[in-house]
Amino acid sequence: MSHLFPNYVRDEIELVSGKGCYVYDQQGNQYLDFVSGIAVNNLGHQHPKVVNALNQQAAKIWHSSNLYTNSLQENVAKKLAAGKDYVTFFCNSGAEANEAAIKMARKATGREKIISFEQSFHGRTYGALSATGQPQLQQGFLPIVEGFEYLPYNQIEPLKEKLDASVAAVILEVVQGEGGIIPAEKEWLKSVEHHCRANGSLLIIDEIQTGIGRTGDLFAFESYAIDPDIVTVAKALANGIPVGAMLGKKKLAEVFGPGSHGTTFGGNNLAMSVAATVLEEINQEDFLAAVKSKGDYLINELNSLIDKSEKVLAVRGKGLMIGIELDSADSLKQVLNNLKTNNILALKAGATVLRLLPPLIIDQQTLAEGAKKIKESILILK
Ligand SMILES: Cc1ncc(COP(=O)(O)O)c(C=O)c1O
Repeated sequence: MSHLFPNYVRDEIELVSGKGCYVYDQQGNQYLDFVSGIAVNNLGHQHPKVVNALNQQAAKIWHSSNLYTNSLQENVAKKLAAGKDYVTFFCNSGAEANEAAIKMARKATGREKIISFEQSFHGRTYGALSATGQPQLQQGFLPIVEGFEYLPYNQIEPLKEKLDASVAAVILEVVQGEGGIIPAEKEWLKSVEHHCRANGSLLIIDEIQTGIGRTGDLFAFESYAIDPDIVTVAKALANGIPVGAMLGKKKLAEVFGPGSHGTTFGGNNLAMSVAATVLEEINQEDFLAAVKSKGDYLINELNSLIDKSEKVLAVRGKGLMIGIELDSADSLKQVLNNLKTNNILALKAGATVLRLLPPLIIDQQTLAEGAKKIKESILILK
């Protein structure tokens, strides 16, 4: 009998080690990793600089608490701001980063309502779950937190109708991840920003899955030329050491005054030391340009499937966050199995979308090998 709650649907393989873009199970089978721990291991496995940063810090001090000054946090916060006027609060996960953002928005504006979008995903804690526009995930946990409303994604009219003096914030993902790899339309996002600003509502961008280079920019919102009030980050920030962060415009700094919000582990020394290294590696022009071109290559390769297989309805994404929409949940299940037989791991998004999230460090040859296996695994669908 398992001593674990059965809340996850787990594959029977156990991954016991990893190197670069490959992971290995307990039998020594090698898999090409197109999951990256769900957009966490952006620098792959056992990246020497990341391992070194962790080891160096482990030999000094692991945790010191937020009772004391922490220059490691200052350093990471400066790198996250990347020259913009953001200040940062560190926590331990994506849901916690969104909790902080929701609390911040209500306190900063004195307003109650938070608007999010259908099929969005913002986490499983009560505030984050209440922001998540997927009723099936809320089932059994009601009542959720009051004051949340969900609108259709990529449509401006419903938002314009709802924006009034009660709206504290609008929260959204630039590419909806769990919801099925659905990128925001540029015009819509610019317009959301414009109407939020005109209404005095804060714009919260959830970069938990899209951030830290995944889409070819440090943050996905950068390519939309918007200037969010709040940005939430987690997952890849420390390449697998748990960490989350909420960035807020400097004008919001006083809202989180002493004692207003906090967490024991947030900004832990081990996580900060790794996060600094991750940001140094990823936030470089060449690195990000390479993510974009590898993403373009992969999308291009996969687009050819649309004409070749009637099971493939669409291919979409940004950078190395790519989804293939299939005709049914059954096709998706078969493709995931075919991929595993072909020694490649991928995951789903929504009910029918195959989600591909390779480590950003993947080289061209390995990417081509992955693209070939993915195409084969789809083309043999009956
Ligand atoms: C966009 C987005 N927001 C929030 C979360 C929640 O993050 P965590 O699982 O670290 O709480 C996720 C996790 O998948 C996510 O993809």
